[in-house]
Amino acid sequence: PKSSVLAEKKVLVTAGPTQEKLDPVRYLTNHSSGKMGYAIAEEAANRGAHVILVSGPTNIQPPANVTFNQVTSAEDMFEKVMAYYNEMDVVVKSAAVADYRPKRVSDQKIKKQPNDLAIEMERTTDILKTLGEQKKHQLLIGFAAESEQLEFYAQDKLKRKNLDMIVGNNIALAGAGFQGDTNIVTIFKKDGTSLLLPLMSKKEVASNLLNEIELLVKENEK
Ligand code: PMT
Repeated sequence: PKSSVLAEKKVLVTAGPTQEKLDPVRYLTNHSSGKMGYAIAEEAANRGAHVILVSGPTNIQPPANVTFNQVTSAEDMFEKVMAYYNEMDVVVKSAAVADYRPKRVSDQKIKKQPNDLAIEMERTTDILKTLGEQKKHQLLIGFAAESEQLEFYAQDKLKRKNLDMIVGNNIALAGAGFQGDTNIVTIFKKDGTSLLLPLMSKKEVASNLLNEIELLVKENEK
């Protein structure tokens, strides 16, 4: 392991999209590939942490040295994360969780209508907010994927959801956000400082983020 700070620490990482079922053939989802979250999970494990990876459906191979949990919907992810939460030291929520799901899931395939079709949607549980409310000893790190006013929205989520740190991801920039192998993020900390990372691979983002997490772990242990 590269460092002893995370050695034997229990780290939970969420990654990937969620799928929200509409009928037996259709679902709502988003563009998350899981690459960002898997890179964080792998790097934490390389640093000696016991890593739980809770992931929505992806096409990529989970890292070998983590405990892998595959989930489908936001509700599945919520239940899995809450089941692990008490025993965790660090939680990193990089998954792109659906904010809404279809209010009714049809047992039968929805047939083509002559006119437009409206689908009623309801809110899913905000996993990160619930973790913030129930936080005890854990360090809680959120993500914020924003296409405008990154700093404003990221700082707002940091405070409102009782986080220790938030990774602001400006998904409007070329080379940043969903799908690709690179990202551009700003890490906002609870003490008001921030760290702007230029374009770099998701693996390098993971490494920088884990350096910041190690600093927080050390502070927490003082
Ligand atoms: O997977 P990749 O293709 O590599 O892409 C990486 C990424 C763009 C998905 C990633 O870098 C990222 O930004 N992840 C967060 C995506 C997101 O859903 O952001 P948000 O601003 O909508 O959500 C804010 C935070 O709340 C996130 O930590 C999210 O996990 C969490 N959340 C959201 C909704 C919900 N119901 N429960 C949650 O916990």
